[in-house]
Amino acid sequence: MNITLQTNKPGNLQSFGNCGKMYKSAETVYSGILSKDQVYTTTSLFRPHLDWNKFINYVIENFKNKEKVNIYSLGCSDGSEAYSYAIALTEKLPKSQHQKYLPIMAFDIDSEVIQAAQSGKINLTNDDFNAITKNIDIDKYGIGDNWHKKFFQKAGSALKIGNDISREDFQSIYNPRYSYTPAGNIKDSVKFYESDVLSAINRINDDGNSIVNTCHVLSYCEDFYVEKVLNALGEKLKPGSIYVFDKFYLEPSFIEKIQNRGFILPDKNMCFAKKLS
Ligand SMILES: C[S@@+](CC[C@H](N)C(=O)[O-])C[C@H]1O[C@@H](n2cnc3c(N)ncnc32)[C@H](O)[C@@H]1O
Repeated sequence: MNITLQTNKPGNLQSFGNCGKMYKSAETVYSGILSKDQVYTTTSLFRPHLDWNKFINYVIENFKNKEKVNIYSLGCSDGSEAYSYAIALTEKLPKSQHQKYLPIMAFDIDSEVIQAAQSGKINLTNDDFNAITKNIDIDKYGIGDNWHKKFFQKAGSALKIGNDISREDFQSIYNPRYSYTPAGNIKDSVKFYESDVLSAINRINDDGNSIVNTCHVLSYCEDFYVEKVLNALGEKLKPGSIYVFDKFYLEPSFIEKIQNRGFILPDKNMCFAKKLS
């Protein structure tokens, strides 16, 4: 499957760049929303800005009286963040409660990465698999026993991105021999849509039952746009809902901004805030 990046700026686009799981360093300009001309779709499973075990325990307790919880991964890239939620939650909850949190709704402004994610395939590295083992009690499945098949199975063909840097000599994330499809409890656990963060938040219909993530996204955006995003979060989210950001924003001026919009930080070392008023 080949996917080509749609941008409004023709030129030398590079997808799936050359370090880490860095899908792209594309010169993209989206209606003035993005402040950088280089936008990276870098992502991975269980990114370490959260202590996932502690955070998911908090989430389950926080929403214990809600029938449905809607999780929004905004700036989702290939879906790694959303699948981390799906894995972490389904591991901790009985099957009868999985649909309370699923499907997770994932949005990205980048049409190419959304098409890739909508294909149902994902490219994973050893780091991704190691991240699962760090965050999940996999001992119960038996290490070395293809435990990861419980979460991801090899796809029939590899997902390659049209503007990928082709490195035929090198079996890697940039030129994968095969890709994976989410399996078991996380099969069909994420729905992908093309949208910018602000438009997605403006469409949220919250009843104190949302988790909204903008991790590693807002740093690509202009200040005026970030302000609008924070205003929209303050207006849309009702008491009880949770906003998740990343470590770059765990600093006084950003915290003050979200506190001014009615959020508190339940744990000052963790990158999430809860709407109180
Ligand atoms: C570095 S990745 C982060 C992926 C994931 N959230 C994570 O933390 O691993 C940034 C993603 O945000 C997307 N993005 C940047 N600005 C955006 C915006 N204003 N609205 C929606 N997506 C945006 C990019 O296309 C890219 O896929």
